[in-house]
Amino acid sequence: MTLGGGAHGRINPFNVTAKPIMSDLHEFIRRLPKAELHLHIEGSLEPEMMFDLAQRNGIALPYASVDAVRAAYNFSDLQSFLDLYYAGAAVLRTARDFHDLTAAYVRRARADNVRHVELFFDPQTHTERGVPLADVFAGIAGALREAKAEDGFSSRLILCFLRHLPEADAFATLEAALPLRDEYADLWIGVGLDSGEVGNPPEKFAGVFARARELGLRVVAHAGEEGPPAYVRGALDTLRAERIDHGVRAEEDASLMRRLKESQTPLTVCPLSNLKLKGVDDMRDHNLARLLRAGLCVTVNSDDPAYFGGYMNANFIAVAEALSLSREELVTLARNSFLAAFVSDAERQPWLDEIDAMLRR
Ligand code: HPA
Ligand code: ZN
Repeated sequence: MTLGGGAHGRINPFNVTAKPIMSDLHEFIRRLPKAELHLHIEGSLEPEMMFDLAQRNGIALPYASVDAVRAAYNFSDLQSFLDLYYAGAAVLRTARDFHDLTAAYVRRARADNVRHVELFFDPQTHTERGVPLADVFAGIAGALREAKAEDGFSSRLILCFLRHLPEADAFATLEAALPLRDEYADLWIGVGLDSGEVGNPPEKFAGVFARARELGLRVVAHAGEEGPPAYVRGALDTLRAERIDHGVRAEEDASLMRRLKESQTPLTVCPLSNLKLKGVDDMRDHNLARLLRAGLCVTVNSDDPAYFGGYMNANFIAVAEALSLSREELVTLARNSFLAAFVSDAERQPWLDEIDAMLRR
């Protein structure tokens, strides 16, 4: 199996000769413990499972085969992806569907030595189709609790509001979720903001984020993926986001860069996502290394791995190779993922110790 299930190494006819050098790097990345802080569970729906769930639920798909689904994954920007992502999510109907989806993600994450995930989910995508919010929670949480019991796989849930919809809908979603809070107190710790960014600035959600903060929820927001640096500022100043999801366009604003360095506000960068959605034309042009070398708290994440061609390690490998990252930089990225995680220091420390121990060997 290729690492992370991505295309790397599978389509390169010279892979055999390149292997001794490549596999060293791949093995180093594989062995690094990592946390994933930017993962939309609906974006981990592989075409095979899309077909299985469509059949199980008696839903007709507009594709003849798994290959036809994959062939449709040619995106020109964020919106062209979101159109397919929301259409694909329509096969998710029952708690069991959400359970199976989450369990499949956990298997992939484990294979990449991901120890902790802060998983995004989009309730509005499902409740508008009549799926009870309680079923979404139950399915995802069931799989995460099983994973915890099996080998200590650690996780949290971040409920995301869809920013293309009105703030009133986000409020209604938050209020609908609150009765479930006690039942999922071990997992549900925060809210986020996703979907089409441009034209939907953070300020649109000032009220609902204020309410979430009052309730003691952690807050993150997508900003600076396609939107301008002003959206990153808005996420920081108005929403008081503790992490910025993506944030790559912050680089266009020198004073914002200084601020992010000073505050060490983490950026959850998603390299293969940026490539697939044409934020960059070539991975060698990705600014992850510049952001990291400027002293920002950068992390690597997979975003929507079933749609963007790779899970955690495929993202690490893509940037390590394209940007010639050093071992030290790869370690910093892995350490940052745990430093940026919404966990206690007691939970965090063993992972950091493990990274240190790995370096001493
Ligand atoms: N950006 C915005 N919304 C999303 C994304 C993303 O990368 N993935 C799933 N919803
Ligand atoms: Zn995202």
